[in-house]
Amino acid sequence: MFACICHRVRERDVRDAIRCGARSEEAVGDACGAGTGCGSCLDRIADLIEEETADTPLSAVA
Ligand code: FES
Repeated sequence: MFACICHRVRERDVRDAIRCGARSEEAVGDACGAGTGCGSCLDRIADLIEEETADTPLSAVA
């Protein structure tokens, strides 16, 4: 399933970017390109960031 249609970025690739440290829509865009086109997927990316970071303290990621 694509999280970002414009750049054909899959949801799992967005999740990977977040797990590798992307903590904002902009950082996800830098990592994989998602959200850097029309912007309509930014809410979904924000949701994925929230999901992926919900039970992971930032200190545990670094
Ligand atoms: S669908 Fe992601 S930028 Fe357009």
